Amino acid sequence: MSKAGTGPDKVTVPRLVRKKARGEKIVALTAYDYPSARILDRAGIDVVLVGDSAANVVYGMATTLAIGMEEMVYHTRAVATGVERALVVADMPFLSYQVSAAEAVANAGRFLKAGAEAVKLEGGAAIAETVRRLVELGIPVMGHLGLTPQSVHRLGGYRLQARTAEEQERLLADARRLEEAGCFSIVLEKVPAEPAARVTGALAIPTIGIGAGPGCDGQVLVLHDMLGMFDEPPFKFVRRYAELHETMSRAVAEYADDVRSGRFPDRDHSFHLDEGR
Ligand code: KIV
Repeated sequence: MSKAGTGPDKVTVPRLVRKKARGEKIVALTAYDYPSARILDRAGIDVVLVGDSAANVVYGMATTLAIGMEEMVYHTRAVATGVERALVVADMPFLSYQVSAAEAVANAGRFLKAGAEAVKLEGGAAIAETVRRLVELGIPVMGHLGLTPQSVHRLGGYRLQARTAEEQERLLADARRLEEAGCFSIVLEKVPAEPAARVTGALAIPTIGIGAGPGCDGQVLVLHDMLGMFDEPPFKFVRRYAELHETMSRAVAEYADDVRSGRFPDRDHSFHLDEGR
């Protein structure tokens, strides 16, 4: 379980918001399991997001629409167990907050019980009243604007958002509504750098960009994308810091070779009666 509010370095919601005023960049990554969360936390990542991108990178689903509360709560519990310092944010899955504010409260509460310290919801003005209710009840909310993958069918794909002047005005208006409703930060996904910087400049709360240029107050990436877990060319906005698909494929093939050829296990990796244990 994450140790919310303990430790001098603990990233809390108010501390995260203060980073913006101090001009300190916020570093966020997704995680879905205990070992990854532990590595991220020990590396000093500020926000560990249990993203519903788990649908894509853990379950191999084509969209995030099919992942549900049970899976997301399960991943949140695993991540929270591995985190001591970072702020743990859980993504609320499709239809867990859109039907009514009461359902949103009940579902957000399940994430907090599983160890999350905040939840993330996609959408602007349409969810502002739900955000207000959650925040009133003590549940911190991170917003998510721009490309909102749960609306993939309305958007017609995973395209760059806020390209026209009208869309840019709507993005800014939605960001202001979310800030007024009490969001403590907003993810801006796949929007041009210029409107993202404009939104960032207009808000007192931090923006966290993914494919939104360098003008945001922080950055987030999907862990599996930045670690190169998949043998596919990365999206334009992803920088790969490792090629884990290669490393893992090589390791697994080497192991298979060793077992088949009898090189593993060898004497050193076996127990023997003459060793006395
Ligand atoms: O689900 C997720 O990983 C996200 C990030 C892309 C921000 O929402």
